Amino acid sequence: MATVALQTEAQVIELVELCKDNYRVRLACEELAKQILPGQFFMLRKPGSSDPLLGRPFALYDTVHNESGEIIGIDVGFHVVGKMTSLMEQLTPDDHLEIWGPLGNGFPQIQTKHLILVAGGIGYTPFVATSRQALLHKQYGDTEASQSSIQAEKASLIYGVRSHEFQADMSDLSDITELDIQVCTEDGSAGHHGLVTDLLLPLLTDSSPEEKVVFTCGPVRMMQAVAELCQKHNVKCWVSLETPMACGFGACFSCVVPTKQSDDQWDYRRSCLEGPVFPGEEILWGQM
Ligand SMILES: Cc1cc2nc3c(=O)[nH]c(=O)nc-3n(C[C@H](O)[C@H](O)[C@H](O)COP(=O)(O)OP(=O)(O)OC[C@H]3O[C@@H](n4cnc5c(N)ncnc54)[C@H](O)[C@@H]3O)c2cc1C
Ligand code: FES
Repeated sequence: MATVALQTEAQVIELVELCKDNYRVRLACEELAKQILPGQFFMLRKPGSSDPLLGRPFALYDTVHNESGEIIGIDVGFHVVGKMTSLMEQLTPDDHLEIWGPLGNGFPQIQTKHLILVAGGIGYTPFVATSRQALLHKQYGDTEASQSSIQAEKASLIYGVRSHEFQADMSDLSDITELDIQVCTEDGSAGHHGLVTDLLLPLLTDSSPEEKVVFTCGPVRMMQAVAELCQKHNVKCWVSLETPMACGFGACFSCVVPTKQSDDQWDYRRSCLEGPVFPGEEILWGQM
């Protein structure tokens, strides 16, 4: 999984609205796209500007190929929450973004009968590439040694949002026909009226715990609830943390998270370098 982080200015190819306050931006960055794996991320920044001062981390949504099948760039799904994402909402095809990556560890290389993906809000972005890798065996990574090898006989995506207006159009996943997508909303305006854990429980208990693996990404308390439910039912769970980050490559320690170590000790780990994907049972959720 070793990759060399690249820094470049990527041209915007297109910007598409996914749902209220959520967009997908396509960036031309061939070299980064050739290396990046599902669950890894990159930092984005406005070129030639110190406002905002720091780059912001974003997960790989998917890699993009041209009509000849050559890899040309990446897609980024984002939710408008602050300064950088408000700028990104205004991007047009002539614009550029400074980008550096691939960064972080990405999802573990697993083979399982049932891969269960649990997403809250914009936390579904890493699961587009992950689903495609697991079920369609699309390759990510440009050498045999670096290629991702997540494989599943079947996969489910549990996707929770506040209400229908924040539910992203899932057409980017429509070619993955085997992916079972279950939606829930907190206000009952679409899908199941309730929380992702309501939909997760039956999937955790329908067969032996060794036959399934859970990956989750979204708000911290949602991931905590998912990780704790998995632990209760002895199902392996990996969480992809969205910790705020300044450098993205291990130098500033702005992204540390408290983790359990062996022999009952605890210590901080850098989410950008040792993460952002961690075993759910290693996170000290009470201190997050
Ligand atoms: C590895 C990783 C992958 C990510 N992938 C994506 C992605 O694919 N799409 C996406 O939309 N976002 C993603 N994020 C989150 C994104 O980086 C932040 O939302 C970012 O701060 C947005 O920048 P901004 O300038 O618009 O908002 P800011 O101005 O930085 O922040 C806006 C508000 O959100 C708060 N905030 C920012 N980040 C967090 C956080 N992690 N937890 C709690 N509060 C926070 C701030 O305190 C502030 O109030 C990812 C984060 C990480 C670490
Ligand atoms: S963001 Fe700088 S060390 Fe992690």
